[in-house]
Amino acid sequence: MTTLAPLGATPQPGSTTKKSFGKAADGQPVDLYVLTNKSGTEASITNFGGALVSLKVPDRSGKLADVVLGYDNVDGYVKGTSYFGALVGRYGNRIGHAQFVLDGKTYTLAKNNGENCLHGGVKGFNKALWTAKTLSTKDGQSLELSYFSKDGEEGFPGNLTVNVIYTLTDANALKIEYSATTDKKTVVNLTNHAYFNLAGQGSGDILGHLLMIPAEQFTPVDAGLIPTGEFRDVMDTPFDFRKPTAIGARIDQADGQLKLGGGYDHNFVLRMTMDRVETLAARVVEPTSGRVMEVWTTEPGMQFYTGNFLDGKALGKGGLSYPRRSAFCLETQHFPDSPNQPKFPSVVLNPGDRYHTITTYKFSVEK
Ligand code: GLA
Repeated sequence: MTTLAPLGATPQPGSTTKKSFGKAADGQPVDLYVLTNKSGTEASITNFGGALVSLKVPDRSGKLADVVLGYDNVDGYVKGTSYFGALVGRYGNRIGHAQFVLDGKTYTLAKNNGENCLHGGVKGFNKALWTAKTLSTKDGQSLELSYFSKDGEEGFPGNLTVNVIYTLTDANALKIEYSATTDKKTVVNLTNHAYFNLAGQGSGDILGHLLMIPAEQFTPVDAGLIPTGEFRDVMDTPFDFRKPTAIGARIDQADGQLKLGGGYDHNFVLRMTMDRVETLAARVVEPTSGRVMEVWTTEPGMQFYTGNFLDGKALGKGGLSYPRRSAFCLETQHFPDSPNQPKFPSVVLNPGDRYHTITTYKFSVEK
Protein backbone atom coordinates (compact mmCIF):
# COMPACT_ATOMS: atom_id res chain seq x y z
CA MET A 1 0.00 0.00 0.00
CA THR A 2 1.23 3.50 -0.75
CA THR A 3 1.45 5.65 2.34
CA LEU A 4 2.19 9.30 1.94
CA ALA A 5 4.11 10.43 4.99
CA PRO A 6 4.13 14.07 6.10
CA LEU A 7 6.90 16.54 5.24
CA GLY A 8 10.22 15.78 6.87
CA ALA A 9 9.39 12.13 7.68
CA THR A 10 12.06 9.44 7.35
CA PRO A 11 11.31 7.00 4.51
CA GLN A 12 10.23 3.49 5.57
CA PRO A 13 10.86 0.43 3.38
CA GLY A 14 7.99 -0.05 0.93
CA SER A 15 6.62 3.46 1.23
CA THR A 16 6.53 6.84 -0.49
CA THR A 17 7.49 10.01 1.37
CA LYS A 18 6.96 13.56 0.15
CA LYS A 19 9.38 16.37 1.06
CA SER A 20 9.91 19.95 0.02
CA PHE A 21 12.57 20.34 -2.68
CA GLY A 22 12.53 24.15 -2.76
CA LYS A 23 10.81 26.64 -5.05
CA ALA A 24 10.84 27.00 -8.83
CA ALA A 25 11.92 30.33 -10.37
CA ASP A 26 8.28 31.55 -10.37
CA GLY A 27 7.98 30.77 -6.63
CA GLN A 28 5.92 27.60 -7.01
CA PRO A 29 6.72 24.95 -4.40
CA VAL A 30 8.50 21.87 -5.75
CA ASP A 31 8.40 18.43 -4.11
CA LEU A 32 10.66 15.43 -3.82
CA TYR A 33 9.04 11.99 -3.62
CA VAL A 34 11.14 9.26 -2.02
CA LEU A 35 10.07 5.76 -3.05
CA THR A 36 11.51 2.80 -1.15
CA ASN A 37 11.09 -0.94 -1.61
CA LYS A 38 11.37 -3.91 0.74
CA SER A 39 15.08 -4.39 -0.01
CA GLY A 40 15.84 -0.81 1.03
CA THR A 41 16.46 0.46 -2.49
CA GLU A 42 15.38 4.07 -2.79
CA ALA A 43 14.42 6.25 -5.76
CA SER A 44 13.85 9.99 -5.33
CA ILE A 45 11.94 11.86 -8.00
CA THR A 46 11.01 15.54 -8.20
CA ASN A 47 7.99 16.96 -9.97
CA PHE A 48 10.30 19.65 -11.45
CA GLY A 49 11.14 18.19 -14.86
CA GLY A 50 10.08 14.79 -13.53
CA ALA A 51 13.74 14.23 -12.71
CA LEU A 52 15.09 11.12 -11.05
CA VAL A 53 17.17 12.87 -8.38
CA SER A 54 18.77 9.88 -6.69
CA LEU A 55 18.73 6.11 -6.94
CA LYS A 56 20.33 4.14 -4.12
CA VAL A 57 21.06 0.50 -4.97
CA PRO A 58 23.15 -2.16 -3.17
CA ASP A 59 26.61 -3.41 -4.17
CA ARG A 60 27.72 -7.05 -3.79
CA SER A 61 28.06 -6.64 -0.01
CA GLY A 62 24.67 -4.92 0.32
CA LYS A 63 26.11 -1.41 0.67
CA LEU A 64 23.92 1.25 -0.93
CA ALA A 65 25.30 3.94 -3.22
CA ASP A 66 23.54 6.62 -5.17
CA VAL A 67 24.18 5.69 -8.81
CA VAL A 68 22.79 8.75 -10.61
CA LEU A 69 24.02 12.33 -10.99
CA GLY A 70 21.84 15.17 -9.75
CA TYR A 71 21.47 18.21 -7.51
CA ASP A 72 20.60 18.63 -3.83
CA ASN A 73 17.65 20.94 -4.46
CA VAL A 74 15.50 22.35 -7.22
CA ASP A 75 17.81 25.34 -7.89
CA GLY A 76 20.33 23.05 -9.57
CA TYR A 77 17.62 21.73 -11.89
CA VAL A 78 16.31 25.22 -12.65
CA LYS A 79 19.81 26.40 -13.68
CA GLY A 80 21.21 23.10 -14.99
CA THR A 81 21.96 22.51 -18.65
CA SER A 82 22.80 18.79 -18.52
CA TYR A 83 19.29 17.26 -18.16
CA PHE A 84 20.33 15.17 -15.11
CA GLY A 85 17.70 12.43 -14.64
CA ALA A 86 15.06 14.53 -16.39
CA LEU A 87 12.02 13.55 -18.38
CA VAL A 88 12.87 14.79 -21.85
CA GLY A 89 10.29 15.94 -24.40
CA ARG A 90 8.46 16.76 -26.53
CA TYR A 91 11.26 15.38 -28.68
CA GLY A 92 14.27 13.65 -27.11
CA ASN A 93 17.58 14.45 -28.82
CA ARG A 94 18.05 16.61 -31.92
CA ILE A 95 15.84 17.75 -34.75
CA GLY A 96 18.06 19.11 -37.54
CA HIS A 97 17.73 22.81 -38.42
CA ALA A 98 14.98 22.94 -35.79
CA GLN A 99 12.30 22.18 -38.34
CA PHE A 100 10.27 19.44 -39.94
CA VAL A 101 7.41 19.02 -42.38
CA LEU A 102 4.17 17.27 -41.47
CA ASP A 103 1.35 16.97 -44.05
CA GLY A 104 3.04 19.63 -46.22
CA LYS A 105 3.27 22.19 -43.42
CA THR A 106 6.68 23.30 -42.12
CA TYR A 107 6.98 23.60 -38.34
CA THR A 108 9.78 25.77 -36.97
CA LEU A 109 11.02 24.86 -33.52
CA ALA A 110 13.02 26.63 -30.82
CA LYS A 111 16.78 26.46 -31.58
CA ASN A 112 18.86 25.69 -28.50
CA ASN A 113 21.79 23.71 -29.91
CA GLY A 114 23.41 25.66 -32.73
CA GLU A 115 20.97 25.45 -35.63
CA ASN A 116 19.16 22.50 -34.07
CA CYS A 117 16.44 21.79 -31.55
CA LEU A 118 17.73 19.61 -28.68
CA HIS A 119 15.56 17.78 -26.13
CA GLY A 120 12.38 19.73 -26.83
CA GLY A 121 13.80 23.26 -27.20
CA VAL A 122 14.59 26.17 -24.88
CA LYS A 123 12.00 25.12 -22.30
CA GLY A 124 11.61 21.39 -22.68
CA PHE A 125 9.58 19.09 -20.44
CA ASN A 126 12.70 18.93 -18.20
CA LYS A 127 12.01 22.52 -17.10
CA ALA A 128 8.26 22.08 -16.55
CA LEU A 129 6.48 21.53 -13.27
CA TRP A 130 4.59 18.23 -13.50
CA THR A 131 1.51 17.23 -11.51
CA ALA A 132 2.35 14.33 -9.21
CA LYS A 133 0.21 11.56 -7.76
CA THR A 134 1.39 8.60 -5.70
CA LEU A 135 -0.08 5.26 -6.73
CA SER A 136 -0.42 1.88 -5.17
CA THR A 137 0.31 -0.78 -7.79
CA LYS A 138 0.83 -4.52 -7.67
CA ASP A 139 4.45 -3.99 -8.76
CA GLY A 140 5.53 -1.60 -5.98
CA GLN A 141 5.61 2.10 -5.16
CA SER A 142 4.65 4.33 -8.09
CA LEU A 143 4.64 8.01 -8.87
CA GLU A 144 2.48 9.28 -11.70
CA LEU A 145 3.53 12.56 -13.31
CA SER A 146 1.35 14.47 -15.76
CA TYR A 147 2.05 17.44 -17.98
CA PHE A 148 -0.05 19.30 -20.51
CA SER A 149 2.02 20.69 -23.38
CA LYS A 150 0.10 23.37 -25.27
CA ASP A 151 -0.35 23.49 -29.03
CA GLY A 152 2.61 25.53 -30.37
CA GLU A 153 4.85 25.05 -27.31
CA GLU A 154 8.47 25.38 -28.54
CA GLY A 155 6.95 25.22 -32.04
CA PHE A 156 5.41 21.73 -31.85
CA PRO A 157 1.83 21.25 -33.11
CA GLY A 158 -1.03 19.85 -31.03
CA ASN A 159 -2.10 19.94 -27.41
CA LEU A 160 -0.24 16.99 -25.91
CA THR A 161 -1.34 15.30 -22.69
CA VAL A 162 1.64 13.45 -21.23
CA ASN A 163 1.64 10.91 -18.46
CA VAL A 164 4.69 9.16 -17.01
CA ILE A 165 4.62 6.50 -14.28
CA TYR A 166 7.77 5.64 -12.36
CA THR A 167 7.56 2.36 -10.40
CA LEU A 168 10.15 1.02 -7.99
CA THR A 169 9.64 -2.74 -7.70
CA ASP A 170 10.69 -5.02 -4.85
CA ALA A 171 12.98 -6.76 -7.35
CA ASN A 172 15.13 -3.58 -7.56
CA ALA A 173 13.82 -2.45 -10.91
CA LEU A 174 12.85 1.09 -11.82
CA LYS A 175 10.17 0.96 -14.49
CA ILE A 176 9.18 4.05 -16.47
CA GLU A 177 5.99 3.98 -18.50
CA TYR A 178 5.32 6.89 -20.87
CA SER A 179 1.94 7.72 -22.45
CA ALA A 180 0.72 10.66 -24.53
CA THR A 181 -2.28 11.71 -26.59
CA THR A 182 -2.75 14.67 -28.92
CA ASP A 183 -5.59 16.65 -30.53
CA LYS A 184 -3.58 17.38 -33.71
CA LYS A 185 -1.05 15.35 -35.68
CA THR A 186 2.36 15.83 -34.02
CA VAL A 187 5.74 14.19 -33.33
CA VAL A 188 6.65 12.74 -29.92
CA ASN A 189 9.78 11.10 -28.53
CA LEU A 190 10.00 10.85 -24.75
CA THR A 191 12.89 9.57 -22.67
CA ASN A 192 14.62 9.81 -19.32
CA HIS A 193 18.07 11.39 -19.19
CA ALA A 194 19.55 9.64 -16.12
CA TYR A 195 23.35 9.83 -15.88
CA PHE A 196 24.63 6.63 -14.28
CA ASN A 197 27.82 5.82 -12.42
CA LEU A 198 27.39 2.39 -10.86
CA ALA A 199 30.37 2.94 -8.54
CA GLY A 200 28.46 5.88 -7.05
CA GLN A 201 27.81 9.42 -8.26
CA GLY A 202 30.83 11.70 -8.07
CA SER A 203 33.28 8.79 -7.69
CA GLY A 204 35.33 9.31 -10.85
CA ASP A 205 35.04 8.28 -14.49
CA ILE A 206 32.94 5.46 -15.92
CA LEU A 207 35.56 4.16 -18.35
CA GLY A 208 35.98 0.87 -16.48
CA HIS A 209 32.29 -0.08 -16.60
CA LEU A 210 31.71 -3.10 -18.85
CA LEU A 211 28.96 -2.44 -21.37
CA MET A 212 27.01 -4.81 -23.59
CA ILE A 213 24.57 -3.51 -26.22
CA PRO A 214 23.12 -6.20 -28.50
CA ALA A 215 22.72 -3.76 -31.44
CA GLU A 216 24.22 -4.65 -34.82
CA GLN A 217 23.99 -1.13 -36.22
CA PHE A 218 24.23 2.49 -35.16
CA THR A 219 23.33 5.75 -36.88
CA PRO A 220 26.44 7.86 -37.74
CA VAL A 221 26.19 11.63 -37.30
CA ASP A 222 27.49 14.82 -38.91
CA ALA A 223 29.41 17.61 -37.14
CA GLY A 224 26.16 18.91 -35.56
CA LEU A 225 25.45 15.40 -34.19
CA ILE A 226 22.53 15.00 -36.61
CA PRO A 227 22.24 11.49 -38.13
CA THR A 228 23.37 11.37 -41.75
CA GLY A 229 20.63 8.82 -42.52
CA GLU A 230 23.13 5.97 -42.84
CA PHE A 231 22.79 2.72 -40.90
CA ARG A 232 26.31 1.46 -40.16
CA ASP A 233 27.26 -2.04 -38.98
CA VAL A 234 29.03 -1.97 -35.61
CA MET A 235 31.24 -4.87 -36.70
CA ASP A 236 34.93 -3.84 -36.84
CA THR A 237 34.19 -0.43 -35.27
CA PRO A 238 34.55 0.92 -31.68
CA PHE A 239 30.72 0.80 -31.59
CA ASP A 240 30.65 -2.99 -31.34
CA PHE A 241 29.46 -3.71 -27.78
CA ARG A 242 27.84 -7.04 -28.62
CA LYS A 243 30.32 -8.64 -26.22
CA PRO A 244 30.84 -6.88 -22.84
CA THR A 245 33.60 -4.29 -23.33
CA ALA A 246 34.98 -1.54 -21.09
CA ILE A 247 33.44 1.80 -22.07
CA GLY A 248 36.93 3.32 -22.13
CA ALA A 249 38.62 0.57 -24.13
CA ARG A 250 38.24 2.31 -27.50
CA ILE A 251 36.74 5.71 -26.63
CA ASP A 252 39.82 7.69 -27.69
CA GLN A 253 40.57 5.69 -30.81
CA ALA A 254 41.20 7.61 -34.01
CA ASP A 255 37.67 7.09 -35.30
CA GLY A 256 35.78 9.78 -37.20
CA GLN A 257 32.49 9.16 -35.37
CA LEU A 258 34.09 9.19 -31.90
CA LYS A 259 35.86 12.43 -32.81
CA LEU A 260 32.56 14.08 -33.79
CA GLY A 261 30.92 13.02 -30.52
CA GLY A 262 33.95 13.74 -28.31
CA GLY A 263 33.37 10.11 -27.27
CA TYR A 264 30.16 8.12 -27.57
CA ASP A 265 27.08 10.22 -28.31
CA HIS A 266 25.27 7.97 -30.75
CA ASN A 267 22.01 6.17 -31.36
CA PHE A 268 22.13 2.38 -31.43
CA VAL A 269 19.57 0.57 -33.58
CA LEU A 270 17.79 -1.95 -31.36
CA ARG A 271 15.05 -2.68 -33.92
CA MET A 272 13.08 -0.95 -36.63
CA THR A 273 9.61 -1.24 -35.15
CA MET A 274 7.97 -0.50 -31.83
CA ASP A 275 7.32 -3.55 -29.72
CA ARG A 276 4.68 -4.27 -27.12
CA VAL A 277 7.18 -6.33 -25.14
CA GLU A 278 10.38 -4.96 -23.61
CA THR A 279 13.64 -6.53 -24.76
CA LEU A 280 17.18 -6.19 -23.44
CA ALA A 281 18.87 -3.02 -24.74
CA ALA A 282 21.99 -2.94 -22.56
CA ARG A 283 23.74 -4.64 -19.67
CA VAL A 284 26.35 -2.76 -17.65
CA VAL A 285 28.65 -4.19 -14.98
CA GLU A 286 30.76 -2.11 -12.61
CA PRO A 287 33.53 -4.57 -11.63
CA THR A 288 34.69 -3.04 -8.31
CA SER A 289 31.22 -2.81 -6.66
CA GLY A 290 29.69 -5.73 -8.57
CA ARG A 291 26.63 -3.60 -9.41
CA VAL A 292 24.84 -4.62 -12.59
CA MET A 293 22.24 -2.65 -14.51
CA GLU A 294 20.15 -4.00 -17.34
CA VAL A 295 18.08 -1.73 -19.57
CA TRP A 296 14.91 -3.20 -21.07
CA THR A 297 12.73 -1.25 -23.47
CA THR A 298 9.97 -1.29 -26.07
CA GLU A 299 11.78 1.52 -27.94
CA PRO A 300 13.60 0.98 -31.25
CA GLY A 301 16.68 3.09 -30.37
CA MET A 302 19.01 4.01 -27.54
CA GLN A 303 21.36 6.99 -27.32
CA PHE A 304 24.60 5.99 -25.64
CA TYR A 305 26.25 9.15 -24.30
CA THR A 306 29.44 9.17 -22.22
CA GLY A 307 29.04 12.57 -20.54
CA ASN A 308 31.50 14.19 -22.94
CA PHE A 309 30.06 17.66 -22.29
CA LEU A 310 30.34 17.42 -18.49
CA ASP A 311 33.06 19.78 -17.29
CA GLY A 312 33.01 19.47 -13.49
CA LYS A 313 31.95 23.09 -13.01
CA ALA A 314 28.40 22.70 -11.70
CA LEU A 315 28.43 21.10 -8.25
CA GLY A 316 26.17 18.14 -7.79
CA LYS A 317 24.72 16.28 -4.80
CA GLY A 318 26.78 16.54 -1.64
CA GLY A 319 28.95 19.22 -3.28
CA LEU A 320 30.58 16.64 -5.56
CA SER A 321 31.79 17.66 -8.98
CA TYR A 322 31.06 15.77 -12.15
CA PRO A 323 33.99 15.90 -14.57
CA ARG A 324 33.95 14.81 -18.21
CA ARG A 325 32.93 11.16 -18.61
CA SER A 326 32.02 10.72 -14.94
CA ALA A 327 28.68 9.18 -15.97
CA PHE A 328 27.00 7.53 -18.93
CA CYS A 329 23.46 7.77 -20.31
CA LEU A 330 21.44 5.09 -22.05
CA GLU A 331 18.49 7.08 -23.38
CA THR A 332 15.90 4.71 -24.80
CA GLN A 333 13.96 6.47 -27.53
CA HIS A 334 13.26 6.80 -31.23
CA PHE A 335 16.19 7.82 -33.40
CA PRO A 336 17.38 11.45 -33.38
CA ASP A 337 16.01 13.65 -36.18
CA SER A 338 13.37 11.05 -37.13
CA PRO A 339 10.88 13.72 -38.32
CA ASN A 340 13.33 14.49 -41.15
CA GLN A 341 14.53 10.94 -41.85
CA PRO A 342 12.15 8.90 -44.00
CA LYS A 343 14.03 5.64 -43.35
CA PHE A 344 13.78 5.92 -39.53
CA PRO A 345 10.83 4.47 -37.58
CA SER A 346 8.02 7.04 -37.44
CA VAL A 347 7.54 9.38 -34.47
CA VAL A 348 4.20 10.73 -35.69
CA LEU A 349 1.31 10.64 -33.21
CA ASN A 350 -2.22 11.01 -34.58
CA PRO A 351 -5.29 12.20 -32.68
CA GLY A 352 -7.12 9.15 -31.34
CA ASP A 353 -3.90 7.14 -31.00
CA ARG A 354 -1.97 6.66 -27.78
CA TYR A 355 1.80 6.95 -27.55
CA HIS A 356 2.93 4.27 -25.14
CA THR A 357 6.45 3.06 -24.34
CA ILE A 358 8.09 1.27 -21.42
CA THR A 359 11.69 1.23 -20.22
CA THR A 360 12.93 -0.64 -17.14
CA TYR A 361 16.30 -0.36 -15.40
CA LYS A 362 16.94 -3.62 -13.51
CA PHE A 363 19.59 -3.70 -10.80
CA SER A 364 21.42 -6.74 -9.43
CA VAL A 365 24.95 -7.74 -8.41
CA GLU A 366 27.68 -9.98 -9.73
CA LYS A 367 30.23 -11.68 -7.42
C1 GLA B 1 22.14 13.82 -25.29
C2 GLA B 1 22.82 14.36 -26.49
C3 GLA B 1 24.15 14.92 -26.10
C4 GLA B 1 23.99 15.98 -25.03
C5 GLA B 1 23.23 15.42 -23.86
C6 GLA B 1 22.90 16.48 -22.85
O1 GLA B 1 22.72 12.66 -24.85
O2 GLA B 1 22.96 13.40 -27.50
O3 GLA B 1 24.80 15.43 -27.22
O4 GLA B 1 23.29 17.07 -25.56
O5 GLA B 1 22.05 14.82 -24.27
O6 GLA B 1 23.99 17.24 -22.48
